[in-house]
Amino acid sequence: MMISNRMAGIQPFYVMEILSRANALERQGRDIIHMEIGEPDFPTPPLVIQHATEFMRRGEIKYTPAAGLPELREAISKYYRDRYGVYVASERIFVTPGASGGFLLAMGLLLNEGDEVLLADPGYPCYANFVRLFGGTPSLVPVDASTCFQLNSDVLSAHWDSRTKGVVIASPSNPTGTVMQSDALKRLTIELERRSGFLISDEIYQGLEYDEPSPTALSLSDRVFVVNSFSKYFGMTGWRVGWLVVPADYIESAEKLAQNIFISTPAPSQYGALASFTEANLQELEQRRRVFQERRDFLCEQLLSIGFTLNTIPNGAFYVYADCRRFTSNSFDFALNLLEETGVATTPGKDFGKNSPESHLRFSYAVTLERLAAAITRIRQFVQR
Ligand SMILES: Cc1ncc(COP(=O)(O)O)c(C=O)c1O
Repeated sequence: MMISNRMAGIQPFYVMEILSRANALERQGRDIIHMEIGEPDFPTPPLVIQHATEFMRRGEIKYTPAAGLPELREAISKYYRDRYGVYVASERIFVTPGASGGFLLAMGLLLNEGDEVLLADPGYPCYANFVRLFGGTPSLVPVDASTCFQLNSDVLSAHWDSRTKGVVIASPSNPTGTVMQSDALKRLTIELERRSGFLISDEIYQGLEYDEPSPTALSLSDRVFVVNSFSKYFGMTGWRVGWLVVPADYIESAEKLAQNIFISTPAPSQYGALASFTEANLQELEQRRRVFQERRDFLCEQLLSIGFTLNTIPNGAFYVYADCRRFTSNSFDFALNLLEETGVATTPGKDFGKNSPESHLRFSYAVTLERLAAAITRIRQFVQR
């Protein structure tokens, strides 16, 4: 078989092993509680479906401009103004097939062979694979509670070397759910400008924040690349629509690249996404956010009472990254056994990097409060055995 050398560096999601076992058990009739899942359990908001359906009935489902529907780019620009008080020209906003499409564009624009990119460890595993795909070298930087599991300016300075070209951050983060506050974000952007490095800020979990608002890097600098998506807060994972904001001098290159790699993001999804910003839909999303918050509070309290350690408060996204070393020194086996014996599926730390993965598990609370309570009962019994 002929296959590129780069494929050797691309890693699979280890959680797929858990997921396929969970699905097999489900087929045998077992009741599985899916806490390994990385998508909201709520259905797509009805207004989005209605808007997309009306568009599809007209039958004119064609390519859109490569950068996205002008009215959607305008709506995103207005959203930044209304919600964050920041002006982002719609020309800088590129609609992409999910945040994942945004990463393809951003990394395609920025990376040269051999460039090193700093990534927080634990972190979302795909960043490293995107970097590798473009010939770069991911550099996993261990982060801990002292920086809220975020890659701040001090950590950056300690790990920057002659090959380093930039950083990817995520706030709120997957898997830790932590938020980077404005002052830390500001210091990071200043440090990066001083070093002529790039910042890609993944803001896909923005909106899902519970203790304090999660700032956008766009309010601090117009030199950053911001990736966002309709997948999580807006509840549209399967529609594959997101966006990338680029600095003004990258507009032309981003347009060229988008034309070549996507032609366009699916038109029905873009029309559906337009309805996301209506007042009625935003109210529905706020309601959902409150439900997530209630689940977060419940899950944190219960995991602590069972004996897990939470090294930080997860104040965003829908994950709790719990330290399970009191029960095991191998979180992967622990997750498999937990699944076999209790039917609770979780994601072992192995998927998120090399920084003590064996003593961490990610619990997703994209399941109802009732199911969370059932999961907690099962986990408590499991660790007491
Ligand atoms: C941190 C993070 N960024 C990006 C993505 C990709 O999202 P999308 O569905 O918008 O491509 C995910 C998906 O789980 C994620 O957790």
